[in-house]
Amino acid sequence: MSANFIDIADYSSAALRDILLLAHKMKSGVISPTPLLGKTIAMIFEKSSTRTRISFEVGIKQLGGTPLVLTSSDMQLSRGETIGDTAQVLSRYVDAVMIRALSHETVLQLSENADIPVINGLTNLSHPCQIMADIMTIEEEFDSIDGLIIAWFGDSNNVLKNWIDAAVTFPFSLRIASPKGYRPDKSVIDKALDLGAQISFYEDSLEAAANANVLVTDVWISMGDEAGTRVQDLKPYQVNKEVLECADDKAIFLHCLPAVRGNEVTAEVIDGSRSRVFDEAENRLHAQKAILCYLFGDTIL
Ligand code: CP
Ligand code: NVA
Repeated sequence: MSANFIDIADYSSAALRDILLLAHKMKSGVISPTPLLGKTIAMIFEKSSTRTRISFEVGIKQLGGTPLVLTSSDMQLSRGETIGDTAQVLSRYVDAVMIRALSHETVLQLSENADIPVINGLTNLSHPCQIMADIMTIEEEFDSIDGLIIAWFGDSNNVLKNWIDAAVTFPFSLRIASPKGYRPDKSVIDKALDLGAQISFYEDSLEAAANANVLVTDVWISMGDEAGTRVQDLKPYQVNKEVLECADDKAIFLHCLPAVRGNEVTAEVIDGSRSRVFDEAENRLHAQKAILCYLFGDTIL
């Protein structure tokens, strides 16, 4: 097992299922572990955040620890101090670091130079804490993600990368509906397919949605992206009533938030009865607490 939580691809299916089980147990109040007593967890933000910042801060406190929120612009990082030196210094003061970074490379360099666990709180390439909360939300609805059809609509971004990683680890079928120019890198897909993931591509959203159990989307312009022609190019991939009606009757809608109503999803869908986006947001708290317990060796299963 890795001492970090940088990508779910670093973890076995059994380990991820253990973390999810722990998250469910904490959410239901069956257990209330405090593995972070006496420990301080730093959080570095190079980009904005509502859910990640608050759910980690609250979760660390609930686990008995002390959160330390740092903004990179207030640190010497903003004046050119290297992430390697920052990692070594932080390792002398705190017990783990969660980082939301502009570049995935920053997280890798942080972990290479730190003696403490590093958690990826979103980079340009991935958002592993989010996918754990998403799978947890699906398990609450369907008991298991195994065998389900998950349909993704729109941009191929950091959140989709995690769905691709998850499709390697868990036996569900991933459909990706997007215009040709917005597909994930071929190397990422080929690797996932070689490892046994069930992934198929669609240009027609209604075909992708047919009988799907979960419809997922995300913003068309992620933090750091240029708007360019994204909104007009991705317009046919909006999740709306027509798309939802093609899905299974019991299908749910997920979105990591923040959302842009009228772009990637209509208000009718995100605020409608099949939407689980606020359970999904809540589950960030429980999933991340479980990740922290796991990293600090307190699995209590
Ligand atoms: N979903 C998510 O990571 O939200 P924030 O950007 O608000 O942290
Ligand atoms: N893809 C989005 C996710 C935000 C939580 C972004 O990177 O901005």
